[in-house]
Amino acid sequence: MSSRKFFVGGNWKMNGDKESLGELIMTLNTASLNDETEVVCGAPSIYLDYVRSKLDQRIGVAAQNCYKVPKGAFTGEISPAMIKDCGIEWVILGHSERRHVFGESDELIGQKVAHCLESDLGVIACIGEKLEEREAGTTEDVVFEQTKVIADNVRDWTRVVLAYEPVWAIGTGKTATPDQAQEVHEKLRGWLRENLSDAVADSVRIIYGGSVTGGNCKELAAQPDVDGFLVGGASLKPEFVEIINARS
Ligand code: PGA
Repeated sequence: MSSRKFFVGGNWKMNGDKESLGELIMTLNTASLNDETEVVCGAPSIYLDYVRSKLDQRIGVAAQNCYKVPKGAFTGEISPAMIKDCGIEWVILGHSERRHVFGESDELIGQKVAHCLESDLGVIACIGEKLEEREAGTTEDVVFEQTKVIADNVRDWTRVVLAYEPVWAIGTGKTATPDQAQEVHEKLRGWLRENLSDAVADSVRIIYGGSVTGGNCKELAAQPDVDGFLVGGASLKPEFVEIINARS
């Protein structure tokens, strides 16, 4: 096994309310969690402060998106400075729902990555191909291009986690097989080695997302280049604890 610390992110998306998130937080706070795993929960922006105040400090909190400048006339947006002000250390950027539902371009995602890192916020940067791209045999081209735009905006890789999330696997119940996930993760690590450095390739966590469950997490976690998960649906359930402990 590598020396990379296993990383499990929960992406709650636009789900929950104070009552249900409060219950989930109680479950997480009292659960026995593997110390070798870094855990971060992505909360809806309106609940970031609430979640940070309730969730045990051993668990990190992430915003699910933010804008590319510190402040100004950008109605409805939040900035890394505001996220940091609430005691929050992470942000998810480039999620497929941001790319494909809200039309965020690679360029905008790159600008957000640059500004968040300058603001000392850790970034969970998401990439992944659509079904038609996989079927056309262009998975590698798509994920390498998305990774390049992110990489062009990163100076310090210690604050970046790369999340490979095939779009066809997100929220569909169609998880990538361990072999499919490992294949892409290995290629991504190869890309980092060739285009950046051995140090970056060896240290950056590449996590998998897309219909991860308590049932499939152990086999995925056993793959040498799968360094953790980004979990949507299952992160809202007590089952999330099993996923956090996938390598236990
Ligand atoms: P899912 O979502 O686990 O519900 O497939 C993953 C994600 O969108 O990050």
